[in-house]
Amino acid sequence: MHSISQYQEIFLNYLESQSVDKEPKNLYDPIQYILKLGGKRMRPILTLMTAEVFNVDCKEALAAAMAVEVFHNFSLVHDDIMDDAPLRRGNQTVHEKWDINTGILSGDAMLILAYQYFEQYEPAVFRDLAKLFSKTALEVCEGQQWDVDFETRTDVTIPEYLKMIEYKTAVLVAAAMKMGAIIANTTQENADLIYEFGLNLGLAFQLQDDYLDAFGNPETFGKQVGGDIIENKKTYLYLKSLAAANPQDKAQLLELFSSSPENNTVKIEQVKSVFIRSTGDKITQEAIEEYTLRAFKTLEKMNIELDKKTILRTFGENLMKRKA
Ligand code: IPE
Ligand code: IPE
Ligand code: MG
Ligand code: MG
Ligand code: MG
Repeated sequence: MHSISQYQEIFLNYLESQSVDKEPKNLYDPIQYILKLGGKRMRPILTLMTAEVFNVDCKEALAAAMAVEVFHNFSLVHDDIMDDAPLRRGNQTVHEKWDINTGILSGDAMLILAYQYFEQYEPAVFRDLAKLFSKTALEVCEGQQWDVDFETRTDVTIPEYLKMIEYKTAVLVAAAMKMGAIIANTTQENADLIYEFGLNLGLAFQLQDDYLDAFGNPETFGKQVGGDIIENKKTYLYLKSLAAANPQDKAQLLELFSSSPENNTVKIEQVKSVFIRSTGDKITQEAIEEYTLRAFKTLEKMNIELDKKTILRTFGENLMKRKA
């Protein structure tokens, strides 16, 4: 096994070797731009790490790791259009730097490019990877549609929210790991358990993304702080705050999320005050911990060496400490 930072370096070197400088520029430049903008590279690192957890050289998993990262970046380009987001990884979003049509088409091309990376595997592995990927990508679309539908709904429940984030975010984290298991040709049981680990880690990850969207430091977060509040996103933070708030705060929160104010800065401050007063912020942090612990529980069921469990655990613990 390598260290987490070594997996990142191995992946970044591969990514660098995959640069394409092709025409038309307005199709390929945005792709290079978003892929080189940085980011945590968490999904490809998980693919590489999982391959080695199941005893195959992580280099075998590089193409699949790349497919996952290219797909993730595609989903970000389209997500930023849908969320009207100005900032990504501390820089202009693709549709702000170019325009919406460019974001749509460059995004589409990235989805195709992602699939092409699987062509490097032999037929049986290719089939399993492509099958998992197609299922996952469709679920991400379903999750994204729910996320948008919920913006204008006032009756979203916690189970609905959890299903939404499972689909828009957690399934890709889970699939990134299962791909490592597929490439390593491990047992079905191991593949299913690592998927479950990734799914719970992914749920914790999205809960934290929601938390940071409101309470992250603008210097380090890399995205517009308060973007979810501006867009009336029905996050866990919002739903739990609404449920726990006193009648006056509850009424204010509902009012703030039902109109488009001329001053978003004031709206963000008022909403965050309710999140804090209602203890919705604490309830969310407890949930982040709970889902991370659920992931760790899955590790106990797995038949792998202790050092492998430790690195997976460390990865989960680091995620909880993240600022971006
Ligand atoms: C952002 O993902 C989208 C979500 C699913 C929350 P990341 O937080 O992994 O984004 P990068 O790749 O590190 O920028
Ligand atoms: C994004 O969720 C999930 C996908 C990109 C599929 P968010 O909309 O919360 O992600 P960020 O916060 O913009 O990164
Ligand atoms: Mg977004
Ligand atoms: Mg979104
Ligand atoms: Mg977010």
